[in-house]
Amino acid sequence: MITAGTRVAGVIGSPVGHSLSPVLHNAAFAQLGLDWVYLAFEVAPGEARAALDAMRVLGLAGLSVTMPHKEAVADAVDELDATARSLHSVNTVVARSDGSLVGYSTDGNGLVASLAAAGVAVAGRTTCVLGAGGAARAICHALAQAGAASVAVVNRTAAAAEVAAALAVAGGVAIGSVGTAREIAAADIVINATSVGMGTSDLPFDPALLHAGQVVADIVYHPRETALLRAARSAGAITVEGLGMLVQQAALQQQLWHGAMPDVAVMTAAVA
Ligand code: ATR
Repeated sequence: MITAGTRVAGVIGSPVGHSLSPVLHNAAFAQLGLDWVYLAFEVAPGEARAALDAMRVLGLAGLSVTMPHKEAVADAVDELDATARSLHSVNTVVARSDGSLVGYSTDGNGLVASLAAAGVAVAGRTTCVLGAGGAARAICHALAQAGAASVAVVNRTAAAAEVAAALAVAGGVAIGSVGTAREIAAADIVINATSVGMGTSDLPFDPALLHAGQVVADIVYHPRETALLRAARSAGAITVEGLGMLVQQAALQQQLWHGAMPDVAVMTAAVA
């Protein structure tokens, strides 16, 4: 039951009308037995700072941040954790008890966690990331932090690929580079971090490059099995669905807000 003591979290973005986040997060609160509720807030472009002011005034406990506000929120919080600072992007805001707002980015670690949940360890593996947008940059950073041997970025626009590759740094060692089809074929783990395949059967690259022994992950989760993953499965590769990253990045947000790790199987069942 919602009472005067119920804590409120939510997502800010535009558009948020079709966001799965309320279903995911409310399922997690119910599973954990927490007196929290999660809502979707449509926040127009340019209004991120006003939304954070509202968060302070209304005493919201936590926010998820999605398009187009991730960079503006990075400028508007009181503090950034190291990953959010490197990426200059925030997908999670935590309200501390002293009222200060701290920004985090769980997108990249969500992808790494989805690989781990599928039994795939990143440490020591060669990786190839398709795309160089916000999601791809977060993934490049997280792969390096997770101990990948290398991160090759393949993107339509080369300048963006260089920026993304430069984020693949661990312990001061740069392991990123701009790649080509050769790196797709050679990588242990290939990740589509473009939007290609969302709601279509389009492919981000020629799947003839794929082979058994590789892991192929997609950040696209609609359809659940994208044309790329279907082709990768046919080629004998291990496949990891984008729904895993969606659920894992949300579970990491929950942990940042209240400290408990929800059951990702319950969250997955809520949106599957
Ligand atoms: P997000 O924040 O979800 O990562 P984004 O920042 O718009 O979204 O990035 C989308 C990525 O997908 C970009 O790397 C984009 O390539 P460009 O940098 O060349 O624009 C890539 N992308 C989108 N549509 C594509 C397409 N049809 N073919 C190839 N790459 C595409």
